[in-house]
Amino acid sequence: MIGNWKMHGSHLEAIQRVQKLSYLLDPADYDRVEVGVAPPFTSLRSVQTVVQMDDLRIRIAAQNLHWQDRGAYTGEISASMLAKLSVSYAIVGHSERRQCFGEDNRVVNRKAKAAMRAGVTPIVAVGETLEQRERGEATAVIRGQVSGSLARIPTEAIQDLVIAYEPVWAIGTGRHAAPADAQEAIAGIREQIRGRHGSAADRVRILYGGSMNPGNVAALMAKLDIDGGLIGGASLDPDAFAACVRYWK
Ligand code: PGA
Repeated sequence: MIGNWKMHGSHLEAIQRVQKLSYLLDPADYDRVEVGVAPPFTSLRSVQTVVQMDDLRIRIAAQNLHWQDRGAYTGEISASMLAKLSVSYAIVGHSERRQCFGEDNRVVNRKAKAAMRAGVTPIVAVGETLEQRERGEATAVIRGQVSGSLARIPTEAIQDLVIAYEPVWAIGTGRHAAPADAQEAIAGIREQIRGRHGSAADRVRILYGGSMNPGNVAALMAKLDIDGGLIGGASLDPDAFAACVRYWK
């Protein structure tokens, strides 16, 4: 379960949020579910300090990165900089980056590869818009995003990465995908990966994202191919996020 905090809160609020989350979770939760938070860049260092000082089993994720390791790229952050801050995961290709910042599959692919070179596991986000779904194009769009975003990534690396299926129409709308529809889309992604990478498909973790919350997490997680959640809005409230982590209780 990864909490995507997006552009919300100062580093002081991030400290409070991660501390509160740590009080709510106990060892059995971490044994069962890998828990991560993706704060804004300005909060990564503070969250890392809390995680290290209190020896927390909370993984740190970044929301984005640049595909070059260094250079004249004003305003950008590289994978090696993130790795130095104990960042384990980086979201690449979130629909907000695809839509608001013009990121296409080529860029997402470069970012995913850069993350892996630095030892940061990419969480590659894919998902169709409402218009694409209504035109019956969802499957083709997802297929194109998966193949483009994962191009030229070898099978050994594929098995360790994380994919997030996030239908754009479900993100931040309070309208989550029906569990059966999410399962169908995610099973399709897994089969696509199996076609190219064989049994690596069984190891790759595929998350659902889009208005996941304590009320719907159990029904979504009950589906065979849904391995976890990428949670935006509900992750800003530690109580709600902890309840999502404990979907199995
Ligand atoms: P949401 O966001 O849970 O607020 O819909 C999910 C995401 O964008 O990762």
